[in-house]
Amino acid sequence: MCGIVGYLGKKQACPILLNGLKRLEYRGYDSSGVALINGGLEIHKCKGKVSDLEAMIGKKNVVANMGIGHTRWATHGEANDPNAHPHTSNNGKLVIVHNGIIENSDSLKKLLLTKNYTFTSETDTEVLINFIEFVKKEEKVSLDQAVRIALNEVVGAYAIAVISLDDPELIVVARLGSPLVLGLGNNEFFIGSDATPFLDLTKKVIYLEDGEIAIISKNGISIRTIESDLPVDAVIHKLQMDLDSIEKGGYDHFMLKEIFEQPTSISNTISGRLNIKNCEVRISGLDEISDNLISADRIIIIGCGTSWHAGIVGEYLIEDLGRVPVEVEYASEFRYRNPIISSKDVVIAISQSGETADTLAAIKMAKSSGACVFGICNVAGSSIARESHAGAFTHAGPEIGVASTKAFTAQVTVLVMIALYLGRKKENLSEKRFREVAQELKMIPAKITSMLNLDPKIKTIAKLLDKATNALFLGRGFNFPVALEGALKLKEISYIHAEGYPAAEMKHGPIALIDENMPVIILAPGGGLYEKLLSNIQEVKARKGKVISITGCDQTEVKEFSDAVIEIPETIECLTPLLTTIPLQLLSYHVAVQRDCNVDQPRNLAKAVTVE
Ligand code: AGP
Repeated sequence: MCGIVGYLGKKQACPILLNGLKRLEYRGYDSSGVALINGGLEIHKCKGKVSDLEAMIGKKNVVANMGIGHTRWATHGEANDPNAHPHTSNNGKLVIVHNGIIENSDSLKKLLLTKNYTFTSETDTEVLINFIEFVKKEEKVSLDQAVRIALNEVVGAYAIAVISLDDPELIVVARLGSPLVLGLGNNEFFIGSDATPFLDLTKKVIYLEDGEIAIISKNGISIRTIESDLPVDAVIHKLQMDLDSIEKGGYDHFMLKEIFEQPTSISNTISGRLNIKNCEVRISGLDEISDNLISADRIIIIGCGTSWHAGIVGEYLIEDLGRVPVEVEYASEFRYRNPIISSKDVVIAISQSGETADTLAAIKMAKSSGACVFGICNVAGSSIARESHAGAFTHAGPEIGVASTKAFTAQVTVLVMIALYLGRKKENLSEKRFREVAQELKMIPAKITSMLNLDPKIKTIAKLLDKATNALFLGRGFNFPVALEGALKLKEISYIHAEGYPAAEMKHGPIALIDENMPVIILAPGGGLYEKLLSNIQEVKARKGKVISITGCDQTEVKEFSDAVIEIPETIECLTPLLTTIPLQLLSYHVAVQRDCNVDQPRNLAKAVTVE
């Protein structure tokens, strides 16, 4: 939701903080700020992007070796200068940056008001820093102890960094429910909501765990538990990401780069996990819970947004190939509807970021009811990856664009392998069928490469949607969830209202919407439902609807009834989502670009929704 950074060392802190914030802008970007200590306390913050903050700091010679920074996605209080982080306590000495939500900030604020505290913002964060100041005064304790004691009174989610004018060589950080990573350099230390702010400066990281507080000084890092103040042995990991993997690589936008990365990312997802000769899927996380999987009465797939769409593809795959009952739930609904969960259930939680609050909370609820939880994440060390009993990383590489693309196809790829694994383990899938699917899955990256040559044609077709205010996406079977995903892509980056529907549902209402102003994107690859999709296309044309068809090379009838046709390579039906998705990603991208929308950072959205 928001991004926080910090630095303590020998270099100039300000440029390191600003560069780090730019790399975190995909997490939130309606305001940003930095706080530096250099004998005095220097704070610069403003509404807008990090580039606006950089311009504000401009030529000021900000000399400091320690500081913290923040880029915000508003939760409490609108996006404006006073609500921008960092926030300072009343005595002007304590400063905080925060990612998360303090649920009991109102009650804390009421207490502080009785102690004559004043507030200049609407944020829960300013309440928290003043509460820390209050505790420090009342308890007469050190900065880190004041933070720890205060956090024991806090209800909510947080990742915070706190500095003080009285402790110019100390940064205190803590987390519960929001991510925080510490980087270890040569006598210098880095803080980030993830590792991207400093991954070109050090590859050694510590992932702070929920309920931990860390004291960072020139002598090193000391980690303790927030609740009991017990020492924690830090585990140092070596980062695999490198800098160019997060740069745009010559593309105009991260989203386009990530669409074009899909042949590579899907190859990486598959790599080392398919043994076609022995009809085996090698995913260690599946082996860890194979008994649970084999004895499971059902599988419940949970996720949000695009991850939920991948979950529906997973439902069709696992029931088709694995013959295990599957239910798919929005994590945000599942966590609150008092569902019936038992130890005979396996929950598959899908999340690109591994930090989505609703998905994380749904996992914790499922675990408390005895279910076995398997996480499918794209970020190593993420909260969901660490909260799940077992899991598989999608290995799609960092996905910076807010609109998820390569993560979706990587998630579907993992779900294909899970379906194959289950089918073989439960003896519901023949070796012949296993090999047919596995061999075709290995061909998918090459088929996507060939499809990316359609980009110029799709850019032209996108013009058909330029003035659209609505759009319908229709699909059947495995491509029904792809229709949902295509609609989400279009609406979240071009701001055109779009809906995905099972094609057969048209006659149950949506067909009333069809006229010459309603573009309808229909997924009609070859396969068992082709004839029915052809009649759906004719129904739309009969009502003057504008039809854009995504179809196979041999489906000549579709071309006759369509205003535009995008041909995709043939594949087996259960793998068509990996192909039909690509033109929808490119279509939404080009529509957004031609409408001059902010493709990588669409309005109101953030890459990781780490609050409810
Ligand atoms: C997808 O393009 C959106 N950015 C959004 O729906 C996203 O899929 C959703 O917030 C879930 O995120 P996660 O996969 O990181 O949990």
